[in-house]
Amino acid sequence: MFECVIRNGSISTANSTVVGDIGISSGLIREVGPANSLTGVQTIDATGMHVVPGAIDVHVHLELPFCGTVSCDDFESGSRSAACGGVTTVIDFAIPSAGGTLLEAHDAWMKKARGRSLVDFSWHMAITRDEHLDEIGAMIRRGLPTFKEFMIYEAEGWNSDDGRMFRTLEAMADLGGMLLVHAESSRVLNELIRRHHVPELMREHGARLHTITRPNFVEAEAIERAIHWSRVTGGRLYVVHMSTAEGADLVAAAQRQGVPVLAETCAQYLCLDDSVFSKPDGHLFACCPQVKGRADIERLWHALTREVSVVSTDTCSFTREQKGMWMVGQGADAYGDWTKIPMGLPGLDTLVPLLYTLGVESGRITLNQLVSLVSTNPARVMGLSHIKGDIRPGMHADLAIIDPEFRMTVSPERLQSRCDWSPFDGMNLAGFSHTTLVRGVPVVRDHAPVGNLSHGRFVERRLPDAG
Ligand code: URP
Ligand code: ZN
Ligand code: ZN
Repeated sequence: MFECVIRNGSISTANSTVVGDIGISSGLIREVGPANSLTGVQTIDATGMHVVPGAIDVHVHLELPFCGTVSCDDFESGSRSAACGGVTTVIDFAIPSAGGTLLEAHDAWMKKARGRSLVDFSWHMAITRDEHLDEIGAMIRRGLPTFKEFMIYEAEGWNSDDGRMFRTLEAMADLGGMLLVHAESSRVLNELIRRHHVPELMREHGARLHTITRPNFVEAEAIERAIHWSRVTGGRLYVVHMSTAEGADLVAAAQRQGVPVLAETCAQYLCLDDSVFSKPDGHLFACCPQVKGRADIERLWHALTREVSVVSTDTCSFTREQKGMWMVGQGADAYGDWTKIPMGLPGLDTLVPLLYTLGVESGRITLNQLVSLVSTNPARVMGLSHIKGDIRPGMHADLAIIDPEFRMTVSPERLQSRCDWSPFDGMNLAGFSHTTLVRGVPVVRDHAPVGNLSHGRFVERRLPDAG
């Protein structure tokens, strides 16, 4: 007799779909058996539902001080969004404050998350000073084997140059960790911003200047350079939030040559194009990199079963009021300065629903491929495959139970995010989680968050699996 049995669900992993039962005790999956074969103290009837491994969103920024403000979703609202969207683990980025160490950043992120999350959590360690290289080994020993460098964001004091990226990748080759990079070419980007940063052009183009100053080659050149340093050092590289067709081509070519590079894209780069910047409130959509054109979207969908291993959200939510910080001047003379818009989008509620609706329902990917992209591959590449990302005995009972008949037209009031707008407003989506379990404990029932915010735990990660 198990503590809990999920009965008669359509159980989909990355590799198979079977109708059956899942027996859970002490937070772990103990048995996967034929339909109606297992008995439990508690039973959850999943007849007619999909049962999938909980998603792992490996790219979120909760309560991040950024662009002169702080992102409005913290671990409380972010983990509720996650849970209702079928996400059972989030990986944030611990970014040291000016002059701070990696260990201090780790402690600061632990304070933000512990006791305040429904779902499990970890973070990548952002290397923003050369001194941080000396802490890499100690971080890996604490279960934090992934590091982050930004090729832009000088104003935040976060950017790394090629020398530091090269040294970090050497350390990755030596110690077995992985370097995540935000790849945009800062010098060319800054030149394009300088050329356009004049009131006449800002009045004329408004938020479209965000896209005008970030042509595809800004991302492509940076990805090419980062791949080069991975090739020569042998250090494992992971390109975050890849948004361009050119980026996908570069990653595919490098992978064919045996360079240890992986890539992630985000739901917004698969679902939104740059026409959003022409809307009256187009500035809300500003994020780095910005969403691109239709051809990029098509190329990225094609990449999902090939060179792109992971789909994440890059959740970094800012309210309408925060996004409004771009206004310069008063009254009739006021205009928007796109360089002052807090950059980022909300997304944790909608990651799985967007992929389910625009991917699985539209026949672009299978449900098994969806599971690979949001759960099994993230677990493998981020060092969690020993406990998460699959449905088999011994794994954490992190599960999303999805009623394929349930649909919701997105509006901010119906989501858990604190953001008062959604980039996906008005879209009719399926794929929200009816019931979500984190280590066997329900954190969502009937599409609403339940349970204790102290349930989520820091999970120690191992070195990423090869490949
Ligand atoms: O615009 C974005 N993506 N904001 C979050 C920070 C980053 O670059 O990932
Ligand atoms: Zn970034
Ligand atoms: Zn990010």
